[in-house]
Amino acid sequence: MSNIYPIFHKILSKSEKEDLLKQNGIVIWMVGLSSSGKSTLARAFEEDLYHKGFITKLLDGDNLRSGVNNNLGFSIEDRTENVRRAAEVAKLFAQAGIVTICSMISPTEQVRNIAKEIIGEDFHEVYICCPFEVCAERDVKGLYKKALNGEIKNFTGLDSPFEEPKSPFITINTDQEELEVSKQKLMKVILPLITKHEQ
Ligand code: ADX
Repeated sequence: MSNIYPIFHKILSKSEKEDLLKQNGIVIWMVGLSSSGKSTLARAFEEDLYHKGFITKLLDGDNLRSGVNNNLGFSIEDRTENVRRAAEVAKLFAQAGIVTICSMISPTEQVRNIAKEIIGEDFHEVYICCPFEVCAERDVKGLYKKALNGEIKNFTGLDSPFEEPKSPFITINTDQEELEVSKQKLMKVILPLITKHEQ
């Protein structure tokens, strides 16, 4: 990095923004197969937070891929760059005191470590766990059918790897419980982290 002079230390700090918003900015990073329920839980969870008075930002993999990441595909290299950019964006939001929810497959330990490193202590990994067969059965977007027919290459869980997170902050088993139950479990562990106690 030459001829670049960052001014991070001169701009308003995260805690100043958090005081104003009366909340703590963290990143909730949802990991899981396509059709595992990441976006569904992320959307429902964000809505609940909104009704509780929190300012949030939902960064969804498919959404980012239609904008800031629209020049990336599904090779390991592109997924790595996809996650890296998402993590940098998430960090910016969290530093503005915003409760940031990322919903991305983030298929390997390596890419998740990149996100973890960029975001630091604000990073909270939520594993949205659902067996491949159940995701393929749900096939919300019809992509499993296409991938199994050979119409999509490098499909996660099929001909592109998915490694389960080793020590997530919390695991949600979407094949075993209703959305409402998953949402409440997540709320129980996240609410204490984002609630600002008056000094
Ligand atoms: S990641 O692996 O780079 O983290 P991301 O979450 O951004 O993936 O995008 C995954 C979404 O892209 C899926 O939910 C699905 O809608 C779409 N998609 C298209 N092609 C593929 C593929 N080959 N593998 C997985 N998802 C794909």
